[in-house]
Amino acid sequence: MSANIVTLPRMLDGLPGKAQNTIYSALDNLRVMTSVGNAKVAATMAPSVFRGLILGVARDGDAVQMPAQHSTHFSLTYGGEFPEMYELYRRAVANQWDGDRDLDWSTDVDPENPERPVMPLDYPPFEGLAAKGIKLTPKEKLRFANDIASWTLSQFMHGEQGALYAAAQVTESVQWMDAKFYGATQVMDEGRHLEVFLRYLDTKLQKTYVCNDNLFVILDDLLTDSRWDVKFLGMQIMVEGLALGAFGTMYNFTREPLLKQLLKYVIQDEARHVHYGVLALREHIGKELSPAEIREREDWAYEVALLMRNRFLSHELYYEWFEGRMSLKDWDEVILNAPSMAAFRHLMFLRLIPNLEYIGLMSDRIKAHYDKAGLTSFLGGKNATELSGEDLIRDIAAYKAPTPH
Ligand SMILES: [Fe+2]
Ligand SMILES: [Fe+2]
Repeated sequence: MSANIVTLPRMLDGLPGKAQNTIYSALDNLRVMTSVGNAKVAATMAPSVFRGLILGVARDGDAVQMPAQHSTHFSLTYGGEFPEMYELYRRAVANQWDGDRDLDWSTDVDPENPERPVMPLDYPPFEGLAAKGIKLTPKEKLRFANDIASWTLSQFMHGEQGALYAAAQVTESVQWMDAKFYGATQVMDEGRHLEVFLRYLDTKLQKTYVCNDNLFVILDDLLTDSRWDVKFLGMQIMVEGLALGAFGTMYNFTREPLLKQLLKYVIQDEARHVHYGVLALREHIGKELSPAEIREREDWAYEVALLMRNRFLSHELYYEWFEGRMSLKDWDEVILNAPSMAAFRHLMFLRLIPNLEYIGLMSDRIKAHYDKAGLTSFLGGKNATELSGEDLIRDIAAYKAPTPH
């Protein structure tokens, strides 16, 4: 990136707030592409970045058409035994739940009930906002906390829609018959996840937000990539890792019993999905890919990991609440330093890094990059094959978010 781009924001200090935000945001989007070191990775991500960040296609309209390019592996021999995968399939069949029957939808969800808040007041970064001169009344604080809940659950819903299509695509493309069996159960799981988040938003919170641009970029990128293993890596390892971090944080914070139970069911399914992903990818990366192909996937995973860590900054909430009262740049700073975000990052990388290590995408070369990003403390942790859904819930509940002061 040229020095001009880096120093430009400082030169814009005298401009009106709206112009500052527009330019800051454009430069920030540009930074996504220019920060990607591997040219091949940058080239494959570029169309999605363009559609998601520059054109903002997920912000308006009724639907987005994504041109999928993968091929379907139609087996003529029905071979390709993968006993561990088959066992996972049997477990998935046995553990299906019914979002309508098994959740108590008669629960009276009152987001303003201080006894059972959907998003308690220790979640939003009120301290950080106050340091930037934003003071909210008690009523506004409550409303803001509820908007954070709606924003977060809306992103879960959009992510689940992406997961549903990715699971369907991977089921077509994967070469082992046992993996196709398993994939079919994941399609059902993701359909159910989409159903319950949609129903919760629709009937309990009655407010939804559009798909965050950065989440859209990742979903668009992996749904339109022709390589099944990149799709798989993107969905089963990266996005599922992100989801486990985000679901886990919400699970820990919420005091609303219906949402807590719903998240518990979803987390247990996601644990199986990641397990499936690491089994297939370890086999594929270890036996099928060339060193150059492995290197490209390592770089891709690293870029997506940074995107997930640095860019889920809920700009939609900023524009709704604080535009004109503080700059977008200050908002980003508040969110990145919020204790609830620290909890999210911790739970996400706790699962993600050991899985990348297990599937063979953590060479010394890329480790140095993760080290620079402060993420190597999670190396050597338990990967998805060593953890059940119950283990995950226990680990999540054991994590104590730093208390705001
Ligand atoms: Fe899901
Ligand atoms: Fe999933």
